[in-house]
Amino acid sequence: MKTIQMRRFGGPEVFEVVEAPTPIPSPGQALVRVRAAGVNFAETLMRENRYAVTPELPAVLGTEVAGTIESLGDGVEGLAIGTRVAAPLFAAGSFLGGYAECALIDAGFVVPLPDALSFEVATALMVQGLTALYLTQQSPPSGKTVLISAAAGGVGSMLIQLAKHTGAATVIAAASTDDKLDFARSLGADACVDYTQTDWAAQARAACGGTGPDIIYESVGGAVTKTSLDLLAPRGELVVYGALNIQSFHLGVPELLGLIFKNQSVTGFALAPLLTHDGLESGLAKLFDLTLRGHLTVMIGGSFPLERAADAHRALEGRRTTGKLVLVP
Ligand SMILES: NC(=O)c1ccc[n+]([C@@H]2O[C@H](COP(=O)([O-])OP(=O)(O)OC[C@H]3O[C@@H](n4cnc5c(N)ncnc54)[C@H](OP(=O)(O)O)[C@@H]3O)[C@@H](O)[C@H]2O)c1
Repeated sequence: MKTIQMRRFGGPEVFEVVEAPTPIPSPGQALVRVRAAGVNFAETLMRENRYAVTPELPAVLGTEVAGTIESLGDGVEGLAIGTRVAAPLFAAGSFLGGYAECALIDAGFVVPLPDALSFEVATALMVQGLTALYLTQQSPPSGKTVLISAAAGGVGSMLIQLAKHTGAATVIAAASTDDKLDFARSLGADACVDYTQTDWAAQARAACGGTGPDIIYESVGGAVTKTSLDLLAPRGELVVYGALNIQSFHLGVPELLGLIFKNQSVTGFALAPLLTHDGLESGLAKLFDLTLRGHLTVMIGGSFPLERAADAHRALEGRRTTGKLVLVP
């Protein structure tokens, strides 16, 4: 089978198309014929060895795929050859193996797909959909004013919709271009700010009627995190779940005093440690249902042939994408 392999860390050029033997599932495993492999920003960091986990080389990146069951190991019940499935490799404890024509997964983590849901949409609902869902569960937006950074991206585009769906009073989208902000508005954002403009905090504050947002879901890092903390309403919560920009943000004495006197909190969020087997199934069932009933629109912002994984990474790193990117073998 065809795989996209990297033998060293570096830029997108480290990806090579490599033929590898098609794996044979061990007892309890399923082999999935990949019809769409999700691309996540974290994989660009893994490729450069800037992620929290260092993959062993040579490595095939890719943490989520959707496709059909190709073969099953002994002892697997309830799945059949040909069944359409979502295969969240990350939930089964692996961050690798998705950029390939076939992927192995512990069959207990495979989730059958409703016929009406495309493979591409299914990939978007795994890492990014579940992240948006769990963020709204951990820090509920109901009745609150929320600000979402990287709002037109994979996680951000779903977070806008889930925040509105769960009763946020006002959703403010922050992104870097007018096109991205128009897209965020089309998904239900009430107000939009371009955080590449120097006065973006003042614009966001005005959109909140003078006080800041009650919750800021922040994934950009650096100066955006710092400004977000300055912008936060008294008793507000800054939820930090990513750090795309490598310049540091210092939480020093003035910031800590600010937190104390304004009764604010800074919360970290990571999906993987929160995800149980039951939580995975119920979370995906909820996301599938919301999508099928038209309450959640999944935007596939780019579909690349598997061999062009490097171009998908270039687009993501170049901030040229909206919604979800997928690789199609
Ligand atoms: N904690 C968790 O469990 C978890 C789970 C999933 C994802 N995440 C994090 O959530 C964030 C979004 O992930 P995603 O896969 O949905 O990506 P994405 O939002 O589709 O793409 C990244 C977006 O971030 C913005 N950005 C800001 N500064 C950037 C920079 N220096 N380089 C590139 N992009 C920059 C860009 O939007 P603008 O041009 O509008 O700024 C870009 O389009 C990432 O930080 C990811 O690691 C965390």
